[in-house]
Amino acid sequence: MKVTVIGAGNVGSSCAEYIAIKKIASEVVLLDIKDGFAEGKALDLYQTSSTLGFNTRIIGVTKDYSKTSNSDVVVVTSGVPRKPGMTREELIGINAEIVEKVVKNILIFSPNAKLVIVSNPMDTMTYLTIKKSGLSKNRVIGMGGALDSSRFKTNISIAMNKPSLDIHAMVIGGHGDTTMIPLDRYASYNGIHIGEFLSKDQIKDIVSSTMVGGATLTKLLGTSAWYAPGASVSYVVDSILNDQKKIIPSSVYLDGEYNEKDICIGVPAIIGKDGVEKIIKLDLNDDEKKLFKKSADAIRKMNNTLI
Ligand code: APR
Repeated sequence: MKVTVIGAGNVGSSCAEYIAIKKIASEVVLLDIKDGFAEGKALDLYQTSSTLGFNTRIIGVTKDYSKTSNSDVVVVTSGVPRKPGMTREELIGINAEIVEKVVKNILIFSPNAKLVIVSNPMDTMTYLTIKKSGLSKNRVIGMGGALDSSRFKTNISIAMNKPSLDIHAMVIGGHGDTTMIPLDRYASYNGIHIGEFLSKDQIKDIVSSTMVGGATLTKLLGTSAWYAPGASVSYVVDSILNDQKKIIPSSVYLDGEYNEKDICIGVPAIIGKDGVEKIIKLDLNDDEKKLFKKSADAIRKMNNTLI
């Protein structure tokens, strides 16, 4: 099982690290445009293998896509991250150009790969990838919902002082500060709705802080986060490579589901060896439907500036 990660920066290298440590793949190739950067990250990471106990081969390359040949999954993190005060949407111009070029190169050497898109604005980059590559919709997965859901679960876990592994919750809609929809109606502590343990105001606070979860970290760190994004990518890659068929909120191409067409937006989907294997249709209430429509409209507006 071979995974290529395009972009050896903060998110790319941390996702490579988790893929290796969790023994998800036998080979990871890190590729970057900065001379020597991916080679350095890969070597440093490889040198942890004997102490941390993994056998994954980690290779770093500068621009040489031939080394990425026959990857089963390719993760796209190349591009610029946001700075404090910026929205993900502001990255569109520069990242669109990078993502389009990168995807073209990936497919020359790995024509059968599943693509996991991380670069922001992620929903639009996922849509752009499908439109420009002509790949079937099951092969392109936008990673945003997995991350936002993990932030939502962590916020609930902290407020309840209960283990996050016992919290189940998901975020659907766009991967943006104003477009994401943390679905508190579906959030539970081992199947018991969180409303049994938290007040309405507490839940409202959790939802709001989840929506600006990325921005809060960007402000603290001076650049966007990498541990949780990297871990969330590895979670998606694991479900594909090991055919785990996990339900993961992901940005996927909708063709009528949720009353939306020709758009990539976050919804729960079964992720397995064929990529997006099934879109789960939730029975949203009227308020949630309105939020979903508003989110889709905002993403579509953004898509229209590109395509
Ligand atoms: N090909 C390969 N790598 C590229 C290219 C390209 N055409 N253009 C840029 N890169 C590389 C950069 O050299 C850099 O090493 O992508 C890497 C990005 O890493 P960081 O700047 O550390 O950014 P990171 O925090 O990892 O975020 C990457 O993921 O979460 C999103 O918003 C975030 O869009 C951003 C992306």
